[in-house]
Amino acid sequence: MFRATSRLHTVCQAARSTLALRPVKYAPAYKAVSLTMFNTSRLYATSGSTKVVPLTAEKYPGFNRNEQFKKLEDSDVDHFKAIVGETGLIYNNEDDLAAFNTDWMNKYRGQSQLVLKPKTTQQVADILKYCTEQSIAVVPQGGNTGLVGGSIPVFDEVVLSLQSMNSIRSFDDVSGILTADAGCILEGLDNWLNEKGYMMPLDLGAKGSCHIGGNLATNAGGLRLLRYGSLHGTVLGLEVVLPDGSILDSMSTLRKDNTGYDLKQLFIGSEGTIGVITGVSILTPRRPKAVNVALLGLNTYEDVQKAFKQSRSELSEILSAFEFWDNNALQIYKKHSDAKPLMENEYPFYVLIETSGSNKDHDDEKLTNYLENMMVDEVAQDGVVAQDETQIKNIWGVREGFTEALGKEAAVYKYDVSMPVNKINDCLEDMRQHLKDGGVFGQPDSPIIDVVGYGHVGDGNLHLNIAANRVDKRVPALIEPYLFEWVAKQNGSISAEHGLGVAKNQFLSYSKSDGMIKMMKTMKNLLDPKGVLNPYKYLPSQ
Ligand code: FAD
Ligand code: MLT
Ligand code: ZN
Repeated sequence: MFRATSRLHTVCQAARSTLALRPVKYAPAYKAVSLTMFNTSRLYATSGSTKVVPLTAEKYPGFNRNEQFKKLEDSDVDHFKAIVGETGLIYNNEDDLAAFNTDWMNKYRGQSQLVLKPKTTQQVADILKYCTEQSIAVVPQGGNTGLVGGSIPVFDEVVLSLQSMNSIRSFDDVSGILTADAGCILEGLDNWLNEKGYMMPLDLGAKGSCHIGGNLATNAGGLRLLRYGSLHGTVLGLEVVLPDGSILDSMSTLRKDNTGYDLKQLFIGSEGTIGVITGVSILTPRRPKAVNVALLGLNTYEDVQKAFKQSRSELSEILSAFEFWDNNALQIYKKHSDAKPLMENEYPFYVLIETSGSNKDHDDEKLTNYLENMMVDEVAQDGVVAQDETQIKNIWGVREGFTEALGKEAAVYKYDVSMPVNKINDCLEDMRQHLKDGGVFGQPDSPIIDVVGYGHVGDGNLHLNIAANRVDKRVPALIEPYLFEWVAKQNGSISAEHGLGVAKNQFLSYSKSDGMIKMMKTMKNLLDPKGVLNPYKYLPSQ
């Protein structure tokens, strides 16, 4: 008994000196995801090549323009001009249209000749009414940071950008309920709430550009879903314009309302296929007074799970994020950034743990105890704790930097799957072996650089990314539908948070039954009988 206690004490002391009091020594320059970064038109590959992004309609087989849709005529453009004014649209100007026709990853490219930028809900209503009457196809677009091609036209659909609808409508600083236009940028809302001691209940790497409307349309998850829950829980009301131009006003500011079908839920995650979201009422939490961020290096995925289980038990109510990445993710990040490592040694796995609470001393003590236990139990091999705001940003900067780093490779195949937490590393390992067996990975001349894993492990959400040094048609054929079959066998989902867009709509049956897909199609037909809203996406064509 005595021996054990004294041994524990010694190890704890050691852990304290190497871990809890140790600042993040090698801080990389924080790479904030800024507004300008996303708003820049990126017609050309980030690798510096001058290759133009191929047209979606040509790159992905199986797309045929629906000839029921009208091709724009001058009279249509005049009609839209009468609604939004001369400055509320971009027409026939390739340079100005480019940013709206190309996605953030330079993967999808559309051929729209017209972007409309309404300033009011009534203007959106007038636009949609006309589009339905005239059978003109429309793509709603927010910050254009989506990763599945949903915000980009496939052919000549009109782009309806919400960027000019960006006002905060009201805020109640007793209840924390915010109402705002759909085109407000997430980070802008969060900064505004910061002044009032509140925060947005979601956070993601694209916060500097994505709109709250886009977040709702994709049901974005992000980095703090673990703590604040999904938008299905925090959204209290929506204002939506339906394809026929009618305005569905459910901008409730009530936390409790059990009257009738909860229609707003239908639009959260509907990716602009049944209505255009123009306003939101959302419950915002108090901004925590004390935030801590720690990074642990671990040897096995078993240890990642142990660290997660223990964090829920020891940090419980103050745990606000639990993210993981593997060493392959770190290698890609290092390759594309001049950041120095956060730890002296490298480990197969890393976890980022964030606590948010109201009492710093209490949180520090809890976190220190937890970290000591992780070291004493040899779950973690090393760790660092941020000592100030800059170091917090530095650690988060690595986690949020993977998407951009991967985008710098010649090709990246991005997947966003969910499954039981204990299957996440099996999924990565299995994919590596599968690609080796398929002859595209593991040899010096292989196209695949690596299979990279990171994600919101606390939510069972793996971002599996396959980075390649060149485009090789064998690669996507080996991944799809193999990965979706694998995920379905674990009762997982083929999209945890990015959505379906044009990337995954044909594979929906791996996650939803025939009966559910049939019901979805019935609802789509009911609300959008001419199918003008975001066509070719979301639901399978057959
Ligand atoms: P867009 O990309 O413009 O549109 C996305 C979809 O929503 C499209 O189908 C579009 O038609 C529709 N849409 C947009 N606005 C409206 C509207 N007002 N009404 C109706 N439909 C609309 N996603 C996550 O879930 N979690 C993450 O952690 C995450 N991190 C990311 C990090 C980076 C660096 C990047 C580039 C992306 C990340 N994403 C993440 C993906 C993306 O940012 C989210 O899906 C985001 O919610 C999209 O918002 P947006 O305003 O850019 O929408
Ligand atoms: C993330 O969690 O970093 C985002 O969902 C983006 C990505 O998957 O790369
Ligand atoms: Zn994510």
